[in-house]
Formats: sequence, structure tokens, C-alpha cells
Amino acid sequence: MKTSEIRQKYLEYFKKKGHAVIPSCGLVPDNDPTTLFTSAGMQQMIPYLSGQKHPLGARIANSQKCLRTQDIEEVGDNRHTTFFEMLGNWSLNDFFKKEQLSWMFEFLTKEVGLDPHHLYVTAFKGLPEAGISRDEETAGIWKKLFKDAGIDAADVVGGEHAIKDDERIFYYDEMKNWWSRSGKPQAMPEGELGGPDSEIFWDFGAELKLHENSPWANETCHVNCDCGRFLEIGNNVFMEYIKRGGAVVKMEQRNVDFGGGLERVAAASQNDPDIFKIDLFSPVIETIERLSGKKYGTDAKTTGAMRVIADHIRSAAFLIGDGVLPSNKAQGYFARRLVRRAVAKGQQLGIEKNFLSEIASIYSSIYLNIYPLAAEQIGAELEKEETKFRRTIHEGLKVFKKMAAENSMLSGKQLFDLYQSFGFPLELSLEIAKEGGTAIASGAENEFREDLKTHQELSRTASAGMFKGGLADAGEQTTKLHTAAHLMLAALRQVLGEHVVQRGSNITAERLRFDFAHPEKMTPEQIKRVEDLVNEQIAKNDPVNREEMALEDARNSGAMGVFGSKYGERVTVYAIGEFSKEICGGPHVASTGVLGHFRIAKEESSSSGIRRIKAVLE
Ligand code: ALA
Repeated sequence: MKTSEIRQKYLEYFKKKGHAVIPSCGLVPDNDPTTLFTSAGMQQMIPYLSGQKHPLGARIANSQKCLRTQDIEEVGDNRHTTFFEMLGNWSLNDFFKKEQLSWMFEFLTKEVGLDPHHLYVTAFKGLPEAGISRDEETAGIWKKLFKDAGIDAADVVGGEHAIKDDERIFYYDEMKNWWSRSGKPQAMPEGELGGPDSEIFWDFGAELKLHENSPWANETCHVNCDCGRFLEIGNNVFMEYIKRGGAVVKMEQRNVDFGGGLERVAAASQNDPDIFKIDLFSPVIETIERLSGKKYGTDAKTTGAMRVIADHIRSAAFLIGDGVLPSNKAQGYFARRLVRRAVAKGQQLGIEKNFLSEIASIYSSIYLNIYPLAAEQIGAELEKEETKFRRTIHEGLKVFKKMAAENSMLSGKQLFDLYQSFGFPLELSLEIAKEGGTAIASGAENEFREDLKTHQELSRTASAGMFKGGLADAGEQTTKLHTAAHLMLAALRQVLGEHVVQRGSNITAERLRFDFAHPEKMTPEQIKRVEDLVNEQIAKNDPVNREEMALEDARNSGAMGVFGSKYGERVTVYAIGEFSKEICGGPHVASTGVLGHFRIAKEESSSSGIRRIKAVLE
């Protein structure tokens, strides 16, 4: 079945089941610097999963554009992509397990026409120490659904053994069958939502794990292993828990959060484990074949390069479409990486002229009806970035040749220098070395990877209390500055007086900009005093506490709010020791010690009665 047909059937099906269909939100989430990109459909639903009333009711569905940066290195195999569409449906304290699983089974088997004999599912094994028991209800529902389809399905605790014929329902622990944005319950930060889940897998056939010198040929295969036989196509999360006071507790409401990979459902529907063979990618792969004169499927390297190109250009096009231009900062830097990797893989395939905008225009027409992409602007931006990178490659090549002439072999450090100075991905350098007959020291690849890791660790600071999943260095820096802004407001009120209220703020990875009501210029002494107060708080390493409460309680507790903001009935309040308390959506660092040194770089007038501070963490 074509991808567009699956998407349409999905939304129609859930509409029939009383769901309001909402649009996909952008790839850059609004007001949520915890993740660089939208990586799950539930992200825009968090306020409603947490208790706020959704204006369209208690049943919501959509198809959501998602981007998972952490998967970038995996792209090249037959299933990973950075961009994907997530089919989602939600119950906001309405229906629960029985309806959800029955609908999903019906949708997959009747609407998409998947053979139920190829479907396998999982359930949560339980976490006794948290008082959460084994999810036998879920297993029982599945058992009945399979039975009605003529399949006797046995359920098994612990699926890590050779699957017997009737085994179809597998219990796994919290590593596999608990979903939150941070993973297992123990890793959830305060206030985070999560719950046990039930995944649905498609079985491509036992013979698969034996194909092509598979390292799995002699391994036991189970639904959650990585041999390639099983593909997860959807996940039903029974989101009824929240982290409060360090414990996972039931919320006031119980929700369902379903997410299914549209491209993966399409791969299942054609029973081919290579998702790059679905209709969405075919015209793109064909174009890459034409441009390179090489054939998809000839060998692992060619195929992998084509997949990377197909994936990365799609992601870059959607990013640019959502306003993220390639740059050196935050989201833009990811767009730049995608472009560079695509160009490098193109080079590897022998594509020497610009080709990114041509590929992007194919995507523009594929997605025309569902996500109109600004084809011209995307094409122009890609063209610009590709030209720039090809020029850099040209410069880098000269340096490469010089290095090669001066050394009998190149070290990992030299390869890393090429990466840092010219953005040469490792594969590109290796490719150039191979072509030019340049020797590479043994261990150079490992050395490169070590250097890269050290570099990343150096530029990354404490990530405590923040979510995995796309969080990049810049996101962390922004979070730190956000916490610093709270400290600064409290300090300003101590130094200048209680009339100081926040009138605006803008935070980037480099600095915070903060506007506040105050009638006159601050003196150097006042500035110094504010800096000192903030740095004292940082030195104390106070924890940053997050608490949800009624708006009225928040106001009564003396929490500051942003002047002119409209708040919901329930709000989140962040408190830093006794020093600061603000109504705020977050996110913040876990404790102030990670902030570093705070400095006010500038204090100026913003408009009448409003001062503006620019401050940095060093
Ligand atoms: N939120 C769940 C996921 O992303 C459905 O897998």
C-alpha cells in the first residue's frame, strides 16, 4: 500500500472512532528547548496529557513530522531514518487499553491488510519495587484479538529465547516496555510523564536472520533483537504515570499515547524489510542511480550511501521548510551536518556536481498535498549550502594533499583536524585517501572517533535533568541560560527593588537577553552586585525544583510570572533554593552548579521604562 494511502486511511479510521484530527506541528517545537526537534507526536500533546482540556475533545489523532538526531549514525541500514512520520492517536482520560488495542489491530489487519500471522506484540513485565504489576490485561486483550483472527497466541515472560510457534505476546522489563521521553522510570526527571507500553512488531520471516553473512545467524532471535527479522511498527503507551517527589506515581488521568512509524507500516505492507524501497523513496533512489551511474543494491556501500543521501536530503528539506537554515548553531547545525554528509556520500558515489536541490524537488512533489514544502526556497538554500561545502572540500583537499605529501601516513588526529577545519566526515577523508593511495595509520579511525568524542564531551556540559532524544550542546546551553535568567530576575529584584518585573526575554545558545521594568540606568555597582548574587547562588549548587500547582496557589506562594502572560489553570513552578520562584514551562538544569560563571555583558535601554540586559555564562 502506498504511504499516502496508509496515512489517509489511518486518519479516517480514527476519525470514525471519534478522534479529532489535528495538524502536524513544526519540526522545531514551540516553547520546548528540552529537545532540538519534535521527535514524537506526543510532544505537542504534553499539556493535555498532563490535565489541561484539549479544545477538540478527549480523542485526538494526527500524522506528525518527526526528526531523531540520535539516529543519524544508524542511517544507511535498511530501517533507520532521521526524519519520519509518526501516526499518532491519543486518549486524554477517555478510552483505554481494550479500545486502543482492538482498534489498532483492526486498523492494521483490516484497513492496511496486514496478515495477523506476521504480527507480534509485547507487554510490560512489571516493576514490583515501584508497585507496578505485570500488564496481564494487555496480554489478555491481545490473546483474544489473535484468537478472533484464528491464531492461538501464547504469552511469555522474557522473550529472549528462540520463539516457539504459538508464542506471540512477550513481556519485557522497563528497558523495553516502558515509554517516557527519557526512557525507563528511573531516568524520568521530575514532572515527566510515562507509562508501560505495548509494541507491535512485523515479522519479515525467520529466514531473514540467516541472510548475507548475518552476524545473527547463530544467535537467538527475539522480537526486540536487532537481527532485522522483526520491525517495530507501532507503540501503544498507557500513559498514566508521572514522576513526582522522585517516585513514579499514577496521575489523576489515564491516557493512551500511540505512535506508529508510517514508513515502517508501509514497509510491512509490502513485506520488504528495506524501507527505502517504499513508494516515497523510489523516485529519489532512481534519481541517485541516474546521477551516479550506480545501482542500488549492488553492494552494501553503494546502497548505504544512497540511503544516507535519500534520508538526509529529505530531513534537510523539511528542516529548511520549517525555517531552519544550515548554520553553526543549534538546529541549523544539524541541517548543515545533514547537507555535508549527503554531499560526502554523493562524492563517494562519484556525483561531482550539485544535486541536492534536484533531489529535494522530488520530495517537494511527493509531499505536495500533505506538507506543502516551499520548493523554491528549499532548493535555493540547499544549492547555496552545497556550493559552499564543495568549495570547502576543494580547500580541504589542498590541505589533505599537503598532509599526504609530508607524511608517510595520516594519523587519526590529522583526520580529525580535517573534520574540524573543513567539515570532512571521516568517510570522506578515507575515501579521498583510498583514491589517492594515501596510507592511513592503523588505529586512525579509532583515534578520530576518540577525538570526536572528547571534543563533543568538552563542548557539552552537564546534561543532568534533561531529556535524551535530539538534545544537542546548544540546547543544553540554552537551558542553562534559562536557569540563569531566573536567578538574575531574583537578583535584580533584591538589588533594584520589587518593581522589577520581566517584560521579555530571548535566549540563544550564546547569551540571554532580558527586558525588565526599571526607570533608570543601572550603576556599575548595581550590575556587579547582581552578578555576585547570581554567582553566589551558582556556587551553592542549589537544586532546581519543579512543581505543578493551581495558578492561584502559585500566585499565593509568591511565584513570579511573566507580565502579560496567559496561564492555564494549572502551572509549573520552578524554585531555586529560597532564592527564586517562577511560573515557567521550563526546562531548567537540575541544579545551579553546572551554570559556570555568570557575567552581565551589557545593560542598556530597551524602550521607555524598560531596561535590557545581555548576559553570558562563561
Ligand atoms: N510516544 C511514543 C513513542 O514515541 C508513542 O514511541
